[in-house]
Amino acid sequence: MSYPEDLRQAVDRHLETIHFAASSDPTTGLDEAMRYSLLAGGKRIRPVLCLATARSLGQEIGPFLGAAAAIEMVHTYSLVHDDLPAMDDDDLRRGQPTSHINYGEAVAILAGDGLFAEAVRLMSSLEAEPERVLEAVRLVASATGVEGMVGGQYVDVTATGLDAAGLRRLHSLKTGRLIRVSVEAALALGGLADPEREPYRRFASELGILFQIVDDILDVTGSDEALGKPQGSDERHGKVTYVSLYGLEEARELASASHREALSALAEVEGETDYLKRVADYIYQREN
Ligand code: IPE
Ligand code: IPE
Ligand code: MG
Ligand code: MG
Ligand code: MG
Repeated sequence: MSYPEDLRQAVDRHLETIHFAASSDPTTGLDEAMRYSLLAGGKRIRPVLCLATARSLGQEIGPFLGAAAAIEMVHTYSLVHDDLPAMDDDDLRRGQPTSHINYGEAVAILAGDGLFAEAVRLMSSLEAEPERVLEAVRLVASATGVEGMVGGQYVDVTATGLDAAGLRRLHSLKTGRLIRVSVEAALALGGLADPEREPYRRFASELGILFQIVDDILDVTGSDEALGKPQGSDERHGKVTYVSLYGLEEARELASASHREALSALAEVEGETDYLKRVADYIYQREN
């Protein structure tokens, strides 16, 4: 079974329709920079997870496309800022020059800022019951903020001498929270009762950890061409990663254990989990 290409294509088609400024506006260059990073490809794992969750609830994907796109916009903003000279100082992303290489640092910073704000606008304009929309917005904002992705990026750039527990916590924040909320936002919008969300949450939390373990491994074993981003970025920056802490072999074993853990949580989910399983398998086996 392979990655759900049908869902990925639905995401790509929807993202194509999103514009941030008209060509006559003075901000048309900002729109261009935002769309440059957003439409550069990418695996679309987070929005695909959102849609796969909708399917597991037995619902049509249409009403979830806006939330899926918004989460991808938050993710893309995080990549644009992650690559900046003050952060990881990388010049290749999604197989093309990073935003600051193409547009300069000031525009790249603004493109990231714009993607985040427009994502919040998109999420809060979803056509669903207001309480469900409000909960989904709150979940995405908190997964992005200090208790989520941004907090994790802060620990990533400031922490020294992380131990195993510290590294797991770092991964669960900087990558895990956004992956987890891709599932949780769909549960909120789909109106699933709280107790029934628990196995989904365990699945999605583990998937987030798995994702970043594999990202750390690929930073060592991949190539610029395959990854579409510079190989060896973590080592150049002296980052503590699963590979630096455990070595490659043990990191691979930990990825395998994490994959098993995610699948065992998924087995507790009621509903059609085929799509979610295919995403989990892809995250484990991916080569880019
Ligand atoms: C890369 O994410 C950044 C991390 C969170 C490690 P992805 O590997 O999902 O990047 P794209 O979206 O496919 O480019
Ligand atoms: C960044 O982690 C995670 C984000 C929140 C963007 P990395 O710095 O490892 O991501 P890559 O390897 O550059 O994609
Ligand atoms: Mg980084
Ligand atoms: Mg990076
Ligand atoms: Mg990385």
